[in-house]
Amino acid sequence: MTDELTGRTAFVTGAARGIGLAIATALARRGAGVAMVDIDLTALARAAQSIGDRALAVEADVSRAGDVGRAIELTTERFGGLDILVNNAGICPLSDFADITEAEWDRVLAINLKGAFLCCQAALPHLRKSGRRGRIVNVASVAGQMGGVSVGAHYVASKAGLIGLTKSLARLLAADGVTVNCVAPGATATDLTADWPETTQAQVKAHIPLGRFARAEEIAEAVCFLVSDRAAFVTGATLDVNGGLYLR
Ligand SMILES: NC(=O)c1ccc[n+]([C@@H]2O[C@H](COP(=O)([O-])OP(=O)(O)OC[C@H]3O[C@@H](n4cnc5c(N)ncnc54)[C@H](O)[C@@H]3O)[C@@H](O)[C@H]2O)c1
Repeated sequence: MTDELTGRTAFVTGAARGIGLAIATALARRGAGVAMVDIDLTALARAAQSIGDRALAVEADVSRAGDVGRAIELTTERFGGLDILVNNAGICPLSDFADITEAEWDRVLAINLKGAFLCCQAALPHLRKSGRRGRIVNVASVAGQMGGVSVGAHYVASKAGLIGLTKSLARLLAADGVTVNCVAPGATATDLTADWPETTQAQVKAHIPLGRFARAEEIAEAVCFLVSDRAAFVTGATLDVNGGLYLR
């Protein structure tokens, strides 16, 4: 394992489990200090402990501006700055379109899309200071690119919106040297998909040319590339990690 991120600080949302935990672990292994943000304090404490000294557990709801501001403050107090923001927290109800209530629509958009906006805005002054090392990676979804096989329309809309936010910020922050990219995972083996009915899992798997769900670590690898110096000239991009589910 390289130490290419030594001296850098990352802020990873939804880091208590699944893809977020895999990302936090991979960044810490490469030398970064990692603020791990989640609403589930019990799982978060366990997750941070699994990483050790380089991790800071921060309880916050990304859909609340106050929580996000405080989390960024705690992070910069502890590590002295912030170079890498990974917007990963997300929820994915499988609701049929006709059954989506206004409250559920608002909740999905508030976490998956507004949460990323709030984190980007609060992190911005620190990322600008970081300059050419500054990185934002948004964890979108193949569903935001192709409509999704079984997931709700609110989820699809939130992830398509996240891809749009990525492009908008990529243009805005290019002059500062800060890059902004997306990773678009296909179906990945985490608690999120483990909750799906078996028929849904089988239906999705049948559409994946590589014939399996991704491992969370495979999504983390893509994030590690995008935050590294090797990706300094990549911005506004969406990196597909989907086993061939969506080919463009
Ligand atoms: N698993 C998949 O198949 C898949 C596919 C494509 C995209 N994604 C995306 O990847 C991201 C991570 O997915 P996962 O499979 O690891 O999910 P997961 O459900 O296993 O983990 C999500 C984490 O986010 C946290 N979280 C939820 N709401 C939050 C909030 N308001 N504030 C802070 N934290 C919050 C949860 O507590 C949980 O720890 C999500 O954005 C998801 O949409 C997942």
